[in-house]
Amino acid sequence: MKVCETALGRFALQRLPVSRDETLRAWDAADELLLAYVAAELLPSFTRRAEQKILLVNDQFGALAVALHKYAPQSWSDSFLTYKATQMNLALNKLPDSVAYLPSTEEPQGDFDGVLLKVPKSLALLEDQLIRLKPHLLPQTRIIAAGMTRHIHTSTLQLFEKILGSTATSLARKKARLIFTRYEKTEPQPSPYPTSFYDKTWDIHLSNQAGVFAREKLDIGARFMLEQFQHLPQARQVIDLGCGNGVLGLVAQRQQPQAQLLFVDESYMAVASARENYQQAFGHQLADFVVGDILDGLQKKAVDLILCNPPFHQQHVIDDQVAWEMFRQSHQQLAAGGELWVVGNRHLHYHSKLKRLFGRCQQIASHKKFVVLAATR
Ligand SMILES: C[S@@+](CC[C@H](N)C(=O)[O-])C[C@H]1O[C@@H](n2cnc3c(N)ncnc32)[C@H](O)[C@@H]1O
Repeated sequence: MKVCETALGRFALQRLPVSRDETLRAWDAADELLLAYVAAELLPSFTRRAEQKILLVNDQFGALAVALHKYAPQSWSDSFLTYKATQMNLALNKLPDSVAYLPSTEEPQGDFDGVLLKVPKSLALLEDQLIRLKPHLLPQTRIIAAGMTRHIHTSTLQLFEKILGSTATSLARKKARLIFTRYEKTEPQPSPYPTSFYDKTWDIHLSNQAGVFAREKLDIGARFMLEQFQHLPQARQVIDLGCGNGVLGLVAQRQQPQAQLLFVDESYMAVASARENYQQAFGHQLADFVVGDILDGLQKKAVDLILCNPPFHQQHVIDDQVAWEMFRQSHQQLAAGGELWVVGNRHLHYHSKLKRLFGRCQQIASHKKFVVLAATR
């Protein structure tokens, strides 16, 4: 556990999954810069603390919510981990949970005095969030965004300008920067998301909300995995773990209509898209859809098959801990003889780790970039 020194106090903060890597923290210099500005400029401008409404957007592990807990902020995020980590970090600091959590698939509640936004990795998600935020802003709303300088591009600033109003940036400090936007009332515009594409090879239409992985075309890893589906074992209970738009589970369901599918992702938008795509493909809702952290809290069933194209970064940080945690929890969830199918970049060396964990791990296919592996419980 590490201690975050902010202008609003010292707080213990942890990432999720709890990190073994000492260099990874649950906050970054952009959080520190934002909280310093909030303490010096924003909070003193609030006259009636109890009534001021603050909205936090993309507060990854809850650093902002913990520091601002006295203001009972709303926390709007596409990540279930934001919700789980914020609760964990509030408890870690023995603070009451005063935060109102809002999934990205719902709209923020009411007008806001202050909006504090961490710039997300996906520009599409930022665009969607700014458009949907607009009806909840007042001319006096203070809108302050923060990010690491290398993640704030001209295109990022143009989105703020185009959707909300005139925008300026602060000087950089510890390689982080603030973005200040003055809201100018103009006609609200509809969000262009979800968008959809048709994949000819797999004859499949996929609708994708703004925050979904591989929103514009099939991921090449997923495509390579699908090419191996002729070798899938027959299964009754199947989990699409980290389902994104649900493409792996959808094709598996088409191939094995008798199978009971469960789609899981920590992104609210991903699960909503997978559900929509399943409905479009099959016209009925026999599968289950869960927003959650890997398989945490799921009732133990005899699962025969888990399909997984694991993430290799969390927002801007390259990190394979989520992947390892997915493999570990899959091992616990599978019935004896059940299989975990994984696609991954060859250089990530999933094979040796899976072999250590499962005992049996077979390479189903490989090409110059990817491998598809099947680990048997
Ligand atoms: C590489 S994408 C794969 C998406 C989809 N299966 C595909 O092949 O196109 C990895 C997915 O894992 C999800 N993910 C990341 N961390 C997760 C967690 N802790 N629990 C569940 N899903 C997670 C991401 O939101 C993302 O949709």
